[in-house]
Amino acid sequence: MGLLEDRVCIIAGGAGSIGLASARALLAEGARVLLVDLNAGDLATAAAGLDPDRVAVQAADVGDVEQSIAYVSAAMARWGRIDVLFCNAGNSGAIGGIEDYPVEAMDATYRVHVRGAFLGCKYALPHMGQGGSVIINSSVAGLGGSPGVYAYCTAKHAQTGLMRSLAKEVAARGISVNTIHPGPVDNSFQTAIEDGFSPLIGGGDATALMNSMIPLGRHAAPEEIARSVLYLASDMSSFVTGSQLVVDGGFTA
Ligand SMILES: NC(=O)c1ccc[n+]([C@@H]2O[C@H](COP(=O)([O-])OP(=O)(O)OC[C@H]3O[C@@H](n4cnc5c(N)ncnc54)[C@H](O)[C@@H]3O)[C@@H](O)[C@H]2O)c1
Repeated sequence: MGLLEDRVCIIAGGAGSIGLASARALLAEGARVLLVDLNAGDLATAAAGLDPDRVAVQAADVGDVEQSIAYVSAAMARWGRIDVLFCNAGNSGAIGGIEDYPVEAMDATYRVHVRGAFLGCKYALPHMGQGGSVIINSSVAGLGGSPGVYAYCTAKHAQTGLMRSLAKEVAARGISVNTIHPGPVDNSFQTAIEDGFSPLIGGGDATALMNSMIPLGRHAAPEEIARSVLYLASDMSSFVTGSQLVVDGGFTA
């Protein structure tokens, strides 16, 4: 019997790197999974290698009210329950000095990370009960500041405010709410961020610089983040709520 036998998990950003690795980890423990992402083609590609009897997909923009209601409804229509909500959709925002920082990058980043996580919680939580788990994928950028990373850092900090407030509201219903805080992951999302950093460090290799700042000396594999998601999704973490699980190879130690 798996850790998540027949539990229904919604993974926002499910066609992406950490989202898909998490889907595989949850499926391996018996879960049923709804992958939510922007593009139907990306979702079809992501789902192609997964068990069609236990995987569904729904194209949705998590920042949109009607589309958020629609993906929650899709999970309920298919399986009639929701046990786990993984708010994982993300964009990286702009990198630049405060005077020139684009206002629209701030709005677009908040729309996905903060409004998107808020809407997912608002519409999924009424369907969740005892043993339920909400996991919000923040970042080490939600634990400390980085010059020039204004939209992403503030959005990732804001997610912890949502997590802490919600954890206190739904604890009496037996539902946990936690954030995870990955450090740099070896995937294209992080590569794009590091490419943006390069001009700020005089054109140097931002990936090598990051590795030199991580005590374990490397980026995480997406599967290493997925194992933390599995822990928080399962009863292994039955007394863990309102917490920030840091998964960063010692980066913020
Ligand atoms: N990659 C890293 O190093 C790293 C580190 C810490 C935290 N994170 C966080 O992990 C999460 C997943 O990132 P990833 O590394 O897998 O990157 P990724 O780009 O592979 O995955 C993000 C997914 O979110 C989807 N998405 C973006 N906007 C959306 C929207 N409005 N509605 C629905 N889906 C949307 C994208 O299409 C993509 O599939 C993000 O929240 C990111 O901030 C990543």
